Amino acid sequence: SPSDHVRIVEVGARDGLQNEKTLLPAEVKIALIDRLSATGLATIEATSFVSPRWVPQLADAAEVFAGIRKVPGVRYPVLVPNLQGYERARAVGVREIAVFTAASEAFNRKNVNASIDESIERFVPVMERAKADGVAVRGYVSTVLGCPYQGEVPVADVVRVAERLHALGCYEISLGDTIGVGTPARARAMLRAVAQAVPMTALAVHFHDTYGQALANILACLEEGVRVVDSAVSGTGGCPYAKGATGNVASEDVVYMLHGMGLHTGVDLDLLVATGAWLAAQLHKETASRVTRARTAA
Ligand code: HMG
Ligand code: MG
Repeated sequence: SPSDHVRIVEVGARDGLQNEKTLLPAEVKIALIDRLSATGLATIEATSFVSPRWVPQLADAAEVFAGIRKVPGVRYPVLVPNLQGYERARAVGVREIAVFTAASEAFNRKNVNASIDESIERFVPVMERAKADGVAVRGYVSTVLGCPYQGEVPVADVVRVAERLHALGCYEISLGDTIGVGTPARARAMLRAVAQAVPMTALAVHFHDTYGQALANILACLEEGVRVVDSAVSGTGGCPYAKGATGNVASEDVVYMLHGMGLHTGVDLDLLVATGAWLAAQLHKETASRVTRARTAA
């Protein structure tokens, strides 16, 4: 039976910030990641070595990564789209990366200016270098429950892309509902289908909360046996190449639900709430976390 420990992959400093209008200085991002490191989170996605013209907010990736306190036992993966991104990341000592593609051709074209096959071809030399350098690689599949351009995404397409990333050497595949349109029964069926091709222990779920379905979808996927959940402190962000997509599910809300179910995360909820409230103030916006709103209400 699945374990009672759930690993949270905190993506707030990357997925959370990449779509924020307010440009945060590097020292605020460094302070965010250092605060997250103190909460007990085991995996904190730190930034993204993509083209700064495509994602200006994360143009300071090298400075941010170099500046964070690397807490022993905490992993700090970064997003990498190609060999150029890999080299920039390695120059500042990155030990874990994430590559990303989509289940929808139309979305992938908008996001990385390439077809799914072309984007995977770009990963081949990245994966070879990573293997030689002892760098761990995670893989993302976007638009697993719907695409802003193509609409419906067949489950078979999700399975095919997830299987390819896994066969290429990604130790874990994160299944992303980029635009947050999924509902629990569909999320469950999608995960079940992917788990026929990739072991459940190598799968993660990544829900955006655009339609308010994220926690319900996570619960359905936990019931299927998944034990890795991506989330963003304060529920920030979204994808700049997915119009209307709002933030990731808030980490505070996920941790609250998991602890309420008797599952363990190793995360100190009070410290996480304090960090979420602090980040919302830095961004001059109200937090999207219901738990943080409830706990910090005047
Ligand atoms: P392109 O324009 O086709 O790239 O972009 P290119 O190879 O033709 O290069 C064009 C210019 O970009 C060149 O500069 C390159 O040097 C530069 P120029 O000679 O014109 O001055 N360049 C780079 N610079 C820095 N770092 C790099 C890099 N690569 C090229 N790594 C590219 C192709 C993939 C680069 C671009 O489309 C890109 O960066 N896209 C990233 C988009 C992005 O970050 N989207 C959000 C992340 S995905 C997501 O959020 C979903 C997820 O959360 C899961 C979910 O929710 O579903 C993961
Ligand atoms: Mg995302």
